[in-house]
Amino acid sequence: MSLSQLPVLGTPLSPSAIRVMLLGSGELGKEVAIALQRLGVEVVAVDRYPDAPGHQVAHRAHVIDMTDGEALRELIAREKPDLVVPEIEAIATPALVEMEKEGAARVIPTARAAWLTMNREGIRRLAAETLGLPTSPYRFAGSLAEMRAAIDGEDGQPGIGYPCFVKPVMSSSGKGQSKVDRPEDVEAAWDYAARGSRVDAGRVIVEGMIDFDYEITLLTVRARDVSGAIVTHFCDPIGHVQVAGDYVESWQPQPMSDTALARAREIAKQVTDDLGGAGVFGVELFVKGDQVWFSEVSPRPHDTGLVTMASQHQSEFELHARAILGLPVDVSLRTPGASAVIYGGVEGKGLVFEGTAEALAVPGTDLRLFGKPESFLKRRMGVVVARASDVNTARANAKLAASKVKPRLA
Ligand SMILES: Nc1ncnc2c1ncn2[C@@H]1O[C@H](COP(=O)(O)OP(=O)(O)O)[C@@H](O)[C@H]1O
Ligand SMILES: [Mg+2]
Repeated sequence: MSLSQLPVLGTPLSPSAIRVMLLGSGELGKEVAIALQRLGVEVVAVDRYPDAPGHQVAHRAHVIDMTDGEALRELIAREKPDLVVPEIEAIATPALVEMEKEGAARVIPTARAAWLTMNREGIRRLAAETLGLPTSPYRFAGSLAEMRAAIDGEDGQPGIGYPCFVKPVMSSSGKGQSKVDRPEDVEAAWDYAARGSRVDAGRVIVEGMIDFDYEITLLTVRARDVSGAIVTHFCDPIGHVQVAGDYVESWQPQPMSDTALARAREIAKQVTDDLGGAGVFGVELFVKGDQVWFSEVSPRPHDTGLVTMASQHQSEFELHARAILGLPVDVSLRTPGASAVIYGGVEGKGLVFEGTAEALAVPGTDLRLFGKPESFLKRRMGVVVARASDVNTARANAKLAASKVKPRLA
């Protein structure tokens, strides 16, 4: 099927098929795959390990090292997808940039967006230096000595100071990230960052701490209207709690002042206009009173947006599916809602989940178990989503239900 004919839909496993390749097939990719399946799209799911959640609901599954540009090229050439949809950051994005240039792949939202956002340096410099958006103060460092100088200052110039956050430039979900409160913690933070980094183990960002009242994900959708023009839509803001850089609960809507909401949308519009293409973006922002800071952006559905499966008419996954296919979207809220994460809590394969009946007896709740073949202590194995007449009840019920689910070794 030729790309110019989108949004004509087809029949999977036939010559008319619209074929989408997911690069990364975790819990977010699984839900995108289900949304695409419902529109009769042929789904090819790729991950670095077999039986990933998205593999289990796709027409075809592949296991490759997605950081290997040659392997990625070879698979795309073989499958010839109409669209390539990154679900994670750890991908050989330079290969995607080249293939998009050659006309050999169309990447969602764009190959450049995937490339820029996989590296904290790329997106931070774009947001703060090119677009002039408010962010935390930051410095980059390539060695322990440079990192010390970035924090403590040198030659009479002040540094970022304490407390600050140290993060590998190539990492996500809090991996390798630490909060540094005093000079004695600097070396440990450097070592931890080097271990938690995906690649280029020697580079970190040091960020001054923003003393925010709350933080949000503003899901921003670039989608075509029926005339074919790209329109930017904003979902209601999602509030969330992060522990050690990983999300544990989220809710929607997060109450905000009119001024803060307007600023948040303005920042999200500027960033997503620059990144371009079509699809869902998770714009992470810190808010204090009417002040808003840009933190980072995912050019794809966001983990904190799992809540939208309960709270919106179209979840972020359905929105992504529609937007990338060139279809119109509806971002409206259905009801206040919340999500609470279920961690593995044990190490091992083929877990069983007890307490699911007790969990689902909590009013307004729903459960997603991702089907990950192997559990780690802090691996996200499932999520409870809850709806209620207000956010506080939804949060309480989501957490209560999640606490009832007891993963254990079979
Ligand atoms: N400069 C900062 N000031 C205050 N909190 C921060 C800062 N940087 C990170 N955090 C906290 O850590 C979380 C994870 O950081 P983030 O940069 O989003 O990393 P990741 O890419 O791993 O999600 C944030 O959601 C926030 O709660
Ligand atoms: Mg984040």
